[in-house]
Amino acid sequence: MRNPLFVANWKMNFLKKDAKEFCDAFLNELSIRNLVDFEGIWIAPPFTLLCEVSSLLSKKDSAPVLIGAQNSHWLDNGAHTGEISPKMLMDVGASFVIIGHSERRQFYAETDETAHKRLKSALSAGMKAILCIGESEAQFKAGDTKKVVLNQLRNSLGCDSGGYSSYIANARLILAYEPVWAIGTGLAATPEIAENVHSIIRDDLSSCLGDGVAQSAIILYGGSTKPDNIGELMACSNIDGALVGGASLKPDQFAELITNGRVAK
Ligand code: PGA
Repeated sequence: MRNPLFVANWKMNFLKKDAKEFCDAFLNELSIRNLVDFEGIWIAPPFTLLCEVSSLLSKKDSAPVLIGAQNSHWLDNGAHTGEISPKMLMDVGASFVIIGHSERRQFYAETDETAHKRLKSALSAGMKAILCIGESEAQFKAGDTKKVVLNQLRNSLGCDSGGYSSYIANARLILAYEPVWAIGTGLAATPEIAENVHSIIRDDLSSCLGDGVAQSAIILYGGSTKPDNIGELMACSNIDGALVGGASLKPDQFAELITNGRVAK
């Protein structure tokens, strides 16, 4: 059973006052839309706003909107200036972390190897983790999507090295397929393209890790999702939700996207 999941990635945006405005308006939107169970709604603010957003959104009686981080280091502590560990994140109320986002891969030297270390450490610490994979525009145009995405998947999970079972066995696998050419461009992948890649990913998980892991894995789509294109994407059987950038910065848009996405499932 895979329930729809919508994750806001705020990236490097918002000060405290913006977060307060967002949360007030978002709670209002959720209540108007009868979404106050908060089921499957996660938000990843910048590190500086984790405490703020966590307390702003946990005032209601129901389960809280889950709060998470956009990156984490693989060690618990030590001489690593500027880095933050899963334990430190959990200490301030974060329950999940986004790992291997393409912006980290493109601009901050993230590799499959470092993504693997981060994933292993976050899951072992008891956090949920979203592993991001996706091909560049040049790779897409060259017809290399399948090769690139499956390489990233296997290497980041550590499938081929046999290192998977010890840290992933008890965790729910959450992946985000985010074609780099679709991120922030306004040009989302068509449902056909996205569904095709999602089903390739699920098939590969099945052969690598078994059908149980593959069928329970949540595979999000990310890249220019909006309230008006989420429905056709969510109607695809292998698309379980979305990792949302731009549209998650506007409370009304994010709430509408969640509503439309849920209806389509
Ligand atoms: P976008 O970003 O929705 O603004 O395209 C998605 C992401 O980077 O996760």
